[in-house]
Amino acid sequence: MSETSPHGTVAYDIVDNVAWVKFNRPEKRNCMSPTLNREMMDLLDALEFRDDVGVLVLSGEGTSWSAGMDLKEYFRENEAKGLGATRGAQREAYGWWRRLRWYQKPTIAMVNGWCFGGGYGPLFGCDLAFAADEATFGLSEINWGILPGGGATKVAVELLPFRKAMYHAMMGENIDGKTAAEWGLVNESIPLAGLKDRVAAVAAVLLQKNPVALKATKDAVRRVGEMTYDNAEDYLIRAQEAANSFDSEGRKEGIKQFIDDKTYKPGLGAYDKNRKAD
Ligand code: ACO
Repeated sequence: MSETSPHGTVAYDIVDNVAWVKFNRPEKRNCMSPTLNREMMDLLDALEFRDDVGVLVLSGEGTSWSAGMDLKEYFRENEAKGLGATRGAQREAYGWWRRLRWYQKPTIAMVNGWCFGGGYGPLFGCDLAFAADEATFGLSEINWGILPGGGATKVAVELLPFRKAMYHAMMGENIDGKTAAEWGLVNESIPLAGLKDRVAAVAAVLLQKNPVALKATKDAVRRVGEMTYDNAEDYLIRAQEAANSFDSEGRKEGIKQFIDDKTYKPGLGAYDKNRKAD
């Protein structure tokens, strides 16, 4: 039985150090209302530094991952209240997507169904993404008369080649999980029946890695894209040295287990992070 947020818009289970978080408005196809955005931020806060959470997976209850922003509660009702309400709702939505982009723990989007518009924010916020072949992705904004805002255009341009991004944004046509994987919106597409097992296997691999190195790595991948080569080189030196101050022994143990103990090969898998240097 999953735990749910006070208003029930998000749900989660923690199993074997993986937090399985769900959008939980299946009757509304998990579209993002202000309440959901608030409750998701609260849940991310609550889970981020728990010792029993090593990886966070974001999926959706029912047939949908997320049908984007709630057109009634997020757009219409806030617009009726005025600019302040609109900006406040934007801050809450964009806020938790930003938290995801820089989350302490590795994050995986498990896209089980519909993924529209505003859903691209948390999709990109997750470090990795796996979709069901049966999932449906679309920038449907153009179909109801707006541009793909809330970062969705940026996500398309970050993840897709220019022509595909333009077509995707302008045409309002949907693609399935397989096409999303071919285009690079997600890492892989798998039949829905095997999706959770595949994501669990990926999470299990991540759980074996040094968590300080994982956080440094995921931040580096997001940061260096907008740097010159020289700036990236410098940033990566500083980032590793900063990571060393959080975990001064990890990499030494990694070298020792390979060079001295000969208990593993880094080219073939991770060192045993539970064994500490003598
Ligand atoms: N905003 C508000 N309500 C929504 C949304 C949404 N984004 N998506 C679904 N719902 C509601 C429906 O209004 C309906 O409510 P009701 O039961 O009170 O009538 C309920 O969820 C179920 O939706 P159906 O349309 O009946 O479900 P169906 O499975 O037939 O279709 C689909 C699913 C294709 C996802 C459809 O609901 C849809 O097109 N939703 C909108 C998708 C979209 O364009 N989202 C906005 C993207 S742009 C942005 O995010 C900025």
